[in-house]
Amino acid sequence: MKELMLTRPDDMHLHLRDGAALAAVVASSARCFARAIVMPNLQPPVTTIEQALAYRQRILAALPAGLDFEPLMTLYLTGNTRPAEIKRLAGHASVLAVKYYPAGATFNADNGVTTIEKAYPVIEQMAISGVPLLMHGEVNDPGVDIFDREQVFIETILDPLLNRFPGLRVVFEHITTEQAVRYVEQGPATLAATITPQHLLYNRNAIFDHGIRPHYYCLPVLKREPHRLALVAAATSGHPRFFLGTDSAPHAQSAKESACGCAGIYSAPVALEIYIEIFERAGVLDRLEAFASHFGADFYGLPRNTGTIRLQQKDWNIPTTLPYLDDCIIPMRAGEICHWRLVADV
Ligand code: DOR
Ligand code: ZN
Repeated sequence: MKELMLTRPDDMHLHLRDGAALAAVVASSARCFARAIVMPNLQPPVTTIEQALAYRQRILAALPAGLDFEPLMTLYLTGNTRPAEIKRLAGHASVLAVKYYPAGATFNADNGVTTIEKAYPVIEQMAISGVPLLMHGEVNDPGVDIFDREQVFIETILDPLLNRFPGLRVVFEHITTEQAVRYVEQGPATLAATITPQHLLYNRNAIFDHGIRPHYYCLPVLKREPHRLALVAAATSGHPRFFLGTDSAPHAQSAKESACGCAGIYSAPVALEIYIEIFERAGVLDRLEAFASHFGADFYGLPRNTGTIRLQQKDWNIPTTLPYLDDCIIPMRAGEICHWRLVADV
């Protein structure tokens, strides 16, 4: 049987929610990831170091016994974030970065940034203190077509920002287009990007396949096939500034299957296995470990993990539904066959 040993990987972009939702999902990430960069888009948002540390404790308390998992926390950039809070972040062991959401662009983004220029004093302090800015790379202008919002973000927000603050460390989160791939490739060593399993596996046809399919809806939305191919090429290229970030984002079935369904795909139960399939299909399984376990840690200046996980090439059925609060959740690839299986006993 084909086996794969990997240094324990890290998920550099993860939504864990809070309370009972957190308790329902945290093990699906901790089963295989050693660490995760945890997104701060709770309601209310995580805006201070104290709030982030309290949230971190709730995550640790929700972990089932025996699972070793380190949450790496982030702050939510709002109009009220002050440079003094950023100064306190410099070199912090558990709160590593600040997340930029354009106001209203996605789930729980209402407290995000309306005009980036207003955040420049805070961002300047981030550049000085070496604190990475994690960017939801879209504009939220109703006049811009939803499929063009990432490209317009590059032109109107990201490029001017990097020109103004050349030392700023930026993670362009969950990139979805060929333009983003090229921009990161040509960018400085201080610019990196995460790539999700859904953007590697699907194009936008998946959302409209014989009817509207809410479980394929996330933001940024899936794009055309040439963009997917550019993402697969980037992820599997061995380029050190593209790394794993699942953007696993749980929502109850009823919140997804609705007249106004939430954006987000719950990939954590199968995300690592999907990346393996993508690399295997590309014929470069030997490059997976760097993408999943090395490049993210290197970019954040973290030590690489020392533990190991083992996977076997063995088919198993992904559940059609999982319990979630008093509802259910439909995981990514629900009801399909997964070709790799994590072996728990290493
Ligand atoms: O699809 C998404 N879901 N995109 C985001 O940016 C947020 C996330 C969520 O928190 O549900
Ligand atoms: Zn996200």
